[in-house]
Parts: sequence; C-alpha cells; structure tokens
Amino acid sequence: MSASIAHELNQPLAGIASNAGAGQRFIDRGNVDLQEIRELLADIGADARRASDVVRGIRGMIKKEQMGRQRINLNDIVTNVVHILSSDALLHWCELKTSLDTNLPMVEADPIQIQQVLINLVVNAFEAMPETPVSTREVEINTQQNADGAVRVTVRDYGVGISPETRSRLFSNSFRPSGRLEWGSPSLARIVEAHAGTIDAESAETEVHDSILPYR
Ligand SMILES: Nc1ncnc2c1ncn2[C@@H]1O[C@H](COP(=O)(O)OP(=O)(O)OP(=O)(O)O)[C@@H](O)[C@H]1O
Ligand SMILES: [Mg+2]
Repeated sequence: MSASIAHELNQPLAGIASNAGAGQRFIDRGNVDLQEIRELLADIGADARRASDVVRGIRGMIKKEQMGRQRINLNDIVTNVVHILSSDALLHWCELKTSLDTNLPMVEADPIQIQQVLINLVVNAFEAMPETPVSTREVEINTQQNADGAVRVTVRDYGVGISPETRSRLFSNSFRPSGRLEWGSPSLARIVEAHAGTIDAESAETEVHDSILPYR
C-alpha cells in the first residue's frame, strides 16, 4: 500500500520537476515561446493537483472515522470545489461556472468524499477541452432537485465528448489496470453508490463531426 502511494506521488512530482527544468531551459535559450511555456505551466498545475489529490486521499482515509456523514448543502460543496479549482481553471483558459438551486434540500453525505468526486469530474472536464476554442471553453456545475426529490449535480463541459465505449466503462471497476491505486472514475462510482446515489455520463450529440455545438 505505501509503495503504491509513493509511486502515485512520485509520478506527478517527477513531472513537475521535469517540466520546471524544461521551462528554465527554454528561458535560458533566449527564445521564449509563450505558448510552450503556457503548456508547461498547465502540465505543472495538473501534476500538482494530482499530487495533492493523493495527499487529500490519504488524509481522507485517515479522517474518515472523524468526519463521516453529516447534513450538508451540496451547494456549499460546489462553491468550495470552484474555489479549490479556480487556478486550475485559469491554467486551462477555462471558465468555471455554477448554476445552483437555492432551494436545494440538505442531504446526508460525507463532504470530503463528495468534494473529491466533484473535483475529479471537473478536472476530467478541463482535460477534455484542449481542442475547444477558448471562447467556448467552460465547465458548468449545476445543482437541482429532481421530481422524485433526489438532489442532482451535473458537471458539463464542451470538450471532445465521451464515446459510447468509454461511457459504458468509465465508472466500472474494469477501467483501471489492476494493481494501481485508484483515484479515478471507478472510485467515484463507489463513493456515490455508498451514498445511495447514481452516477453516469452523457454526451451531447453533434450532427457535424469536429464541430462544437454548445447548447444552453
Ligand atoms: N468529461 C470528459 N470528456 C471526455 N472524456 C472523458 C471525460 N471524463 C473522462 N473521460 C475519459 O475517461 C477516461 C478515464 O477518466 P478517469 O478520470 O477515470 O481517468 P483519467 O482522467 O484518465 O486519469 P486520472 O483521473 O487518474 O488523472 C479519461 O482518460 C478520458 O478519456
Ligand atoms: Mg481523471
């Protein structure tokens, strides 16, 4: 377990060190390509977030006993997630918006776990939009109450979309090669299911390939 955590931490830290070194070399060489530097910084930001996810996961495991479930308003979690990821959004040239139902009923949930789920979904959304024109590059987190009284949170991006193949496997345990510590989507499904919830992904249909048709 600890070897696996060390490995999960080492990868992003090595990435940060190598990208920082590359950035310094670019500058020393004198021909600074700002686009290249921007991409290096985006990679560094993503790696740093990954490392902090690992640490947060460990902290989450330790804290689990103390924290546990409590009555929370999911809007507060969303607001916190936006705060945590605001610099990540800037690095991806992405607007991070919310549309919150002000009458959302409280739910019984573990705030750290739900926050973890949302962070993962939003980061996946950022990562899905490198080809999206900056003017349409946005992620919207929406909260609402379903007709059946359940609370629903959606994270929407305007990126490449998810193929039916990926969609069917995204939240299933078979997605990851075994033996790797899992912080990705299958673990999100486990958290949500432990809260008696469901999680799924949808892709907006676009008639024209290669074009992005945002609808609101
Ligand atoms: N919003 C999205 N749009 C398009 N593809 C997505 C989206 N979310 C997830 N995916 C696809 O599903 C894959 C699995 O996502 P998951 O979060 O489990 O792992 P990852 O993002 O590849 O790795 P990690 O989360 O550990 O950095 C992604 O690599 C991506 O191909
Ligand atoms: Mg991910």
